[in-house]
Amino acid sequence: MTLARAQAGASPFAERLIEWQQVHGRHALPWQNTRDAYRVWLSEIMLQQTQVATVLGYYQRFLLRFPSVRALAAASLDDVFALWSGLGYYTRARNLHRCAQAVVQQHGGHFPGSSAELMQLPGIGRSTAAAIAAFCFGERVAILDGNVKRVLTRVLGFDADLAEARAERALWAQATALLPERGIEPYTQGLMDLGATLCTARAPQCLLCPVQVDCVAANTQTQERYPVKTRKLKRGTREHVWLWLRWRAQVWLVQRPPTGVWAGLWSLPEFDSRPAFDAAFADVIAAQLDAVETLPSFTHTLTHLDWTLHPLRLTLPARTGAARVAQIVTRLPTGRWFSLAQALAAGLPAPLRKLLA
Ligand code: ADE
Ligand code: SF4
Repeated sequence: MTLARAQAGASPFAERLIEWQQVHGRHALPWQNTRDAYRVWLSEIMLQQTQVATVLGYYQRFLLRFPSVRALAAASLDDVFALWSGLGYYTRARNLHRCAQAVVQQHGGHFPGSSAELMQLPGIGRSTAAAIAAFCFGERVAILDGNVKRVLTRVLGFDADLAEARAERALWAQATALLPERGIEPYTQGLMDLGATLCTARAPQCLLCPVQVDCVAANTQTQERYPVKTRKLKRGTREHVWLWLRWRAQVWLVQRPPTGVWAGLWSLPEFDSRPAFDAAFADVIAAQLDAVETLPSFTHTLTHLDWTLHPLRLTLPARTGAARVAQIVTRLPTGRWFSLAQALAAGLPAPLRKLLA
């Protein structure tokens, strides 16, 4: 019996997972080998809906710019968005900033030392709180993110419908019951690593898996039936005309509202339809018949929605005076002119960054 197994003092499942993690798991990610809750928290928030490979670059840049939770709390939201731009899910970036401020104001600049307290902070759900507490404080507490749900439902043959709150609670209880007495850190990392590498949604590599002998799904060849979750999201669709208005090498950008899609980012003004745009800009178009260019439309996929945007580019002649320009932009939501460099340095939705660049 190896040292790891002797120390785990746990179910064969936990023992096998810990042993595997120590040999085959990931040990050199930049947020590992530290108990600094700021670093671990930042990584867990970035990793919530984004893959490790994408997170790596953002993580390093973020830490260079905001080396401490105090530095992040003191930053402007626009600066945070600018560094987050491209990671998507902007609610995460707002909550990140709010959380840093709460840590400074309510906890003297130190993350609280238990999962129960961490869960009270903005943007930290039960599983994220547990991951931070396990990695930083050695707290014996279960994680249950999307990957871990897949692993555990397969291992346990847990076929209740996770769309039901009751089933979700039952799975949390089972996840807690599986925890080892010792070795919560490699155990937690092992669950994450297994879900990310071998126990993938499609074609899991059960032959290489350390817990295959314990796994109900592998033993019955039913891996792809798990996890069970019935309630399908009904996807909606939405379309807008997107106006790229140019004048003297500048673009008119408007700040999006603080909630909803691309919350708080700088973006192009929207119109409900092409006729709505034509009506609002009839005089400009009449004076300058070739001014409007139709750019290729694209569809941006959101969680509940396919959003098709139809970009139009309208370039006002450089000679147009400031008074006339001011009169034109009163038809648009409040915003301001940005040079291309200023725009690219601001927090922009990824598709707009691509369009402008
Ligand atoms: N995904 C979520 N948390 C992670 C971590 N700590 N390491 C690797 N992938 C993760
Ligand atoms: Fe996942 Fe296969 Fe391992 Fe079961 S045996 S946990 S299905 S990889």
